[in-house]
Amino acid sequence: MDLVLVPLHKYPEYLQKCCDLINSEWKRSNTARLRSLEASSDKLPTSLILLKGDILLGHVKLSPLPSVPNSCFVESVVIDNSERGKGYGSLLMAKTEDYCRKTMNISVIYLSTKGQEGFYCKLGYIECMPVSLYGEFKGIRQNDFSISKQTIKPVI
Ligand code: ACO
Repeated sequence: MDLVLVPLHKYPEYLQKCCDLINSEWKRSNTARLRSLEASSDKLPTSLILLKGDILLGHVKLSPLPSVPNSCFVESVVIDNSERGKGYGSLLMAKTEDYCRKTMNISVIYLSTKGQEGFYCKLGYIECMPVSLYGEFKGIRQNDFSISKQTIKPVI
């Protein structure tokens, strides 16, 4: 069955399922989560969903990172708990990188993780200095683990 990565705002029928998926990992009020997901658009922020047929497998959010040109900050990467360890997380990230390159003209992806460093390192991400989510290099905790990846690479 085909696996596709599509913008959530073009498939609003998945809004509630997506909300439930993210909330199963990071609990937040349904209303606040929905509001955040409803902000998805063709310009950042953009929520992308991984579909297998009509089954929702995963989600990733691309947020703006004004301090770095042609970049974005990747957040809320999640694969349905019952579908983990089957390669879908890697596929979600590979398709996200493709989407960034081809659709958004984004050449660098930053993200921050505590606990999934091994997963991202396997995908070629490298540790870097913390970046500011806002215009200047302020307000980032020293112990943040940020990793980045140059997303300019041959697309096979
Ligand atoms: N440490 C080391 N290796 C890992 C880890 C980890 N934490 N997680 C997965 N891997 C490995 C797998 O063993 C696999 O290795 P292999 O290729 O040698 O077999 C490889 O990474 C790819 O694994 P996938 O099956 O593609 O990953 P999966 O579908 O399980 O998705 C994900 C990984 C997205 C992290 C999933 O476990 C998940 O949803 N976790 C809960 C939410 C979470 O923590 N998300 C990341 C938050 S950070 C952020 O959003 C920027």
